[in-house]
Amino acid sequence: MRLLVTGGAGFIGSEFVRMTLREHPEDQVTVLDKLTYAGNERNLDPVRGDARFRFVQGDIADPAAVGPLARGCDTIVNFAAESHVDRSLEAPGQFIITDVYGTYVLLEAARAAGHPRYLQVSTDEVYGDVATGRSREGDPLRPRSPYSASKAGGEMLVQAYRASHGLPAIITRGSNTYGWYQYPEKIIPLFITNALEDRPLPIYGDGGAVRDYIFVEDHCRGIDLALRRGVPGEDYNIGAGREINGITVADTVLRLLDKPPSLKQYVSDRPGHDRRYALDSTKLRTLGWEPRIDVEKGMEMTVRWYVEHEEWWRPLKSGEFWAFYQRNYRTVTPLPGSGAG
Ligand code: NAD
Ligand code: DAU
Repeated sequence: MRLLVTGGAGFIGSEFVRMTLREHPEDQVTVLDKLTYAGNERNLDPVRGDARFRFVQGDIADPAAVGPLARGCDTIVNFAAESHVDRSLEAPGQFIITDVYGTYVLLEAARAAGHPRYLQVSTDEVYGDVATGRSREGDPLRPRSPYSASKAGGEMLVQAYRASHGLPAIITRGSNTYGWYQYPEKIIPLFITNALEDRPLPIYGDGGAVRDYIFVEDHCRGIDLALRRGVPGEDYNIGAGREINGITVADTVLRLLDKPPSLKQYVSDRPGHDRRYALDSTKLRTLGWEPRIDVEKGMEMTVRWYVEHEEWWRPLKSGEFWAFYQRNYRTVTPLPGSGAG
């Protein structure tokens, strides 16, 4: 396959690119990425010398950038998105441009090029808050944040292109993903890097909100399987089924780094904070997928990676990062000399 991987310089997209080139020697990969604050070309250093790999900087919402690349490949795998819920609460416009309009531009290009397959990477957040049970693919979408609403909007367009134009599209809905190369605004890399710097770990509300955490390799293996063996027109959940709340994330990080519990700091809750997500991934499991990395091992590997790759994350925690941090965590007391004050 000749794949166009959009958002391939981000956290999950770059893992997917590295995995594809490692495990599918016959494949070619072009990455189209705008390199927003969350995109990082260094995530692709491990594949830079590979003759089957090409990087193009550009915007999925720009038909002039997307059209020629779509004509030169067989399949688009769309990871590109604004991905952070807290940023969507502050400034939702770019989420709608990228996650909705950008998806439309990609779908139109895939249709015009006559691609035999399209894969939209979506999220369990489109199901909304799930008090009990586990979300299944046929459940209604009830997004509750501007981020999840924009992801659901992108999905609606995928569904429309399936129905109206017969586009052979697959949607995957992954759960909370963690692992190496994750921008340190998400809870796990934020807590790890804050703990390494002896800064407080800001826990929203009572710390009881639950997420279904999955290691990044397991998520990408699920996307790869859905792409190659999934049925066009179908949606697939990808979740490991391990529910963990914010307090447990903080306690695990502090234990693994041998840091004191006093670093836990309770801060104002996220507005509209979904209390629980949980996925039923039976459908993908029937295709032969199962998660390989349990959360204990995954957390250990992740913590070790951040300990050993300070040169990767430290430059990211500067400038705009702290400006957003200060606006978002109004109740956090900065530590003297932290640069956050
Ligand atoms: P990320 O924020 O780390 O990476 C997003 C990438 O998209 C970045 O490289 C960024 O530069 C690029 N991008 C943003 N806007 C773009 C645009 N207009 N044109 C081209 N490139 C653009 O995100 P991630 O955590 O790797 O998530 C990847 C995808 O997976 C997203 O679609 C997200 O909604 C979905 N997802 C994420 C998770 C998670 O827990 N992180 C879980 C399920 C699904
Ligand atoms: O579920 C999949 C989604 O997971 C993806 O679609 C999103 O792109 C990704 O950002 C993630 O969304 P969440 O909002 O669940 O992830 P986040 O890491 O921001 O928060 C995880 C939980 O931790 C959530 O209950 C809020 C809480 N939290 C988060 C941060 C950043 C804190 O308590 N403190 C924090 O500082």
